[in-house]
Amino acid sequence: MSGFVEKPEPVQVPGLTHLHTGKVRDLYRNEAGDLVMVASDRMSAYDWVLPTEIPDKGRVLTQLSLWWFDRLSDLVPHHVLSTELPAGAPADWAGRTLVCKSLNMVPVECVARGYLTGSGLAEYNESRTVCGLELPEGLSDGSELPEPIFTPATKAAVGDHDENVSFEEVARQVGDDTAALLRRTTLAVYSRARDIARERGIILADTKFEFGFESTPDGDRLVIADEVLTPDSSRFWPADQWQPGRTQPSYDKQFVRDWLTSPASGWDRKSETPPPPLPQEVVEATRAKYLEAYELLTGEAWSDTF
Ligand SMILES: Nc1ncnc2c1ncn2[C@@H]1O[C@H](COP(=O)(O)OP(=O)(O)O)[C@@H](O)[C@H]1O
Ligand SMILES: [Mg+2]
Repeated sequence: MSGFVEKPEPVQVPGLTHLHTGKVRDLYRNEAGDLVMVASDRMSAYDWVLPTEIPDKGRVLTQLSLWWFDRLSDLVPHHVLSTELPAGAPADWAGRTLVCKSLNMVPVECVARGYLTGSGLAEYNESRTVCGLELPEGLSDGSELPEPIFTPATKAAVGDHDENVSFEEVARQVGDDTAALLRRTTLAVYSRARDIARERGIILADTKFEFGFESTPDGDRLVIADEVLTPDSSRFWPADQWQPGRTQPSYDKQFVRDWLTSPASGWDRKSETPPPPLPQEVVEATRAKYLEAYELLTGEAWSDTF
């Protein structure tokens, strides 16, 4: 079992048509035909959207994505048109709402990995490959790879696991040229971000991008979409605690995962039952981690005045 523990009712705003309630974002279309993306404070873990929200998470994800988009724009254009709140939108959407180009999304989760962990490690332990790419012997959890690799996955509906696929499988689905463009762009953006994060004492172990095509008079052009380089889409590790051979501490859902799988939660991950609400201290610790990631990466104090 998986999905929403409680699916929220979409907020209705005059002039906006509700399109979709994602795990984290609510999508609307405005009268100009642009996409309005509202990042909520929802948290997902173990394929569930949890019944407890993390205050400020939506704003942190949105502001961090904007910060990164600025630092990547010479490599690939991004989808944001405006950060202005649509007329009639609730005041609490401020800081977490983006008006974006509505793109023809590429149905591939474009993952780059510079370090081995998670599903990459699981495949490596079986076959010494990740997404079919051969890797050297002797790597363990958290090892740095000889060079960053493109490890695409096909996007799953809520609840289903994304499936790692080979580059050849991506090429079959989207064509050779688009597959090569996705790989090149993913690795270029990853390398830029890895270097920026590293200067701030953070290892960007891996990250996921989503791209779409915008049609222009000169033909289609690739645009980077969704959120970028946030704790939800990336594994950020404190560099001074990096120690291959174990699970690395990270700036993300670690507290939530640890609590859910501890006896304290009383929850059985393998059961059919939805996860319980998070205790206040887990909410606070998780919120603090998201803010810490924002502050370390941007070098700016978090300000929640929007
Ligand atoms: N510019 C864009 N045009 C169209 N769709 C987009 C754009 N940017 C992001 N999306 C889509 O919006 C959704 C974001 O909501 P989210 O809650 O992250 O969904 P998910 O549950 O699929 O992760 C994703 O399905 C993503 O592919
Ligand atoms: Mg998403």
